[in-house]
Amino acid sequence: MTTPPPVDLEIVTLPTEALGPAEREEIVALCTRAFGTDFSSLWHFVRRADHLLARLHGHLVGHTVWSTRHARVEAGPPLRTAYLDAVATDPDLWGRGIGRAVIAAVEDITTGSDLRALSTDRPGFYERLGWERWLGLTGGRDGDRIVPTPDEIVFISRTPHTPPLDVHSLLTVEWRAGSIW
Ligand SMILES: CC(C)(COP(=O)(O)OP(=O)(O)OC[C@H]1O[C@@H](n2cnc3c(N)ncnc32)[C@H](O)[C@@H]1OP(=O)(O)O)[C@@H](O)C(=O)NCCC(=O)NCCS
Repeated sequence: MTTPPPVDLEIVTLPTEALGPAEREEIVALCTRAFGTDFSSLWHFVRRADHLLARLHGHLVGHTVWSTRHARVEAGPPLRTAYLDAVATDPDLWGRGIGRAVIAAVEDITTGSDLRALSTDRPGFYERLGWERWLGLTGGRDGDRIVPTPDEIVFISRTPHTPPLDVHSLLTVEWRAGSIW
């Protein structure tokens, strides 16, 4: 049985440019606590993006940010991909259904994309939520060059617009500063 999220969880979405300094600080503080590593560089690789903020009694307890990137399977056409970064929930509230609520809300919002994707070192969480682990090679596209990313654990989630695809094939995404995936 799944754990339902707290009934008074409030979820809002905001583009990065609409975030004020206090909200930016809250996001960095939450991600830093959840990942156990300094997240102040988030703004270097997340520019034109949308954030989801989950609040409980005014406190930020859940976050993710997604932007449109272009994944390609083998030499197939670019897929308009909702790419998630910085999925984090308050460590004091882990296991209370907040992470599931965050991902469910983003899935609803990004249902018009061709694909959803992310990289993680918490594969069990995404497997539990029905995401699929990419089993083939992955890489970053830098012009005509493909930079292999063998250490990344990449997950995808299909939308109603996802074409048939084989998770054993090559998946690439355009290169970006800071972190390819
Ligand atoms: C991963 C994370 C977002 C999960 O958040 P959460 O609020 O604890 O998640 P939920 O309580 O909604 O869990 C949903 C389900 O996933 C399971 N789950 C949570 N974390 C898990 C993990 N690390 N491994 C396996 N299953 C996990 C829960 O048991 C729950 O299962 P259920 O359906 O049986 O109840 C949170 O632990 C976190 O912020 N971790 C640090 C940052 C991070 O690694 N983020 C993800 C990488 S992008």
